[in-house]
Amino acid sequence: MSQTPAVKLVRYDAEQISDIRPTLVSLYGEVYEREIAEDPFFSVERFEQRLQGHSSRPGWEAVVAYDGGEAAGYAYAAALPERTGWWAHMLTPLPEEATEETGERTLALFELMVRVPWRKTGLAQRIHEELLAHRREERVTLLVDPEHPKVAALYESWGYCHIGDQQPFPDAPVYSTMLRRLR
Ligand SMILES: CC(C)(COP(=O)(O)OP(=O)(O)OC[C@H]1O[C@@H](n2cnc3c(N)ncnc32)[C@H](O)[C@@H]1OP(=O)(O)O)[C@@H](O)C(=O)NCCC(=O)NCCS
Repeated sequence: MSQTPAVKLVRYDAEQISDIRPTLVSLYGEVYEREIAEDPFFSVERFEQRLQGHSSRPGWEAVVAYDGGEAAGYAYAAALPERTGWWAHMLTPLPEEATEETGERTLALFELMVRVPWRKTGLAQRIHEELLAHRREERVTLLVDPEHPKVAALYESWGYCHIGDQQPFPDAPVYSTMLRRLR
């Protein structure tokens, strides 16, 4: 598969989560099969809990890619609230002005995944850009496993910079934190 023009991207908000929850969970189970087998943090149950928490946040949105009737990948994000724990988990604190949140300043991209047959087709970037396209936040942040430098390099090619490291949950990996300006 070398290109993805026939793949349709559909946006969903939190009110529509029940329409897509089974799809989000099923693709997670497929894409993270190895991690699920190796580390309880990645279990499907823990993912469902995180999804429940993230999708309860104001402004949560997902973009799901469909190739015919088949879901090929997705991303979802929500704005960081004013009293966010996101920056509190940084191992080296960032300057206060870099971490002040208003509920409208920073979009957190929580998940981006594409099933294997649709990798290297440009679909991941299409999903990502579609998710950002209608957002009003100033900037977007995401976490990437430092043991996956090629994924970090991909995000750098999309305009993200590494700004430090954080551990969002006590049993989570230490993640590289990346930031990109949106305007
Ligand atoms: C990240 C992702 C959406 C990017 O899709 P894409 O733009 O089509 O790019 P690719 O799949 O070619 O990934 C880019 C490189 O990162 C590597 N990579 C991707 N996911 C990886 C992972 N979970 N662990 C280790 N390496 C990974 C790929 O092997 C590739 O390296 P290569 O060029 O040497 O083959 C897709 O690879 C994916 O769904 N990965 C699994 C889920 C994931 O890791 N999501 C990111 C969480 S921060």
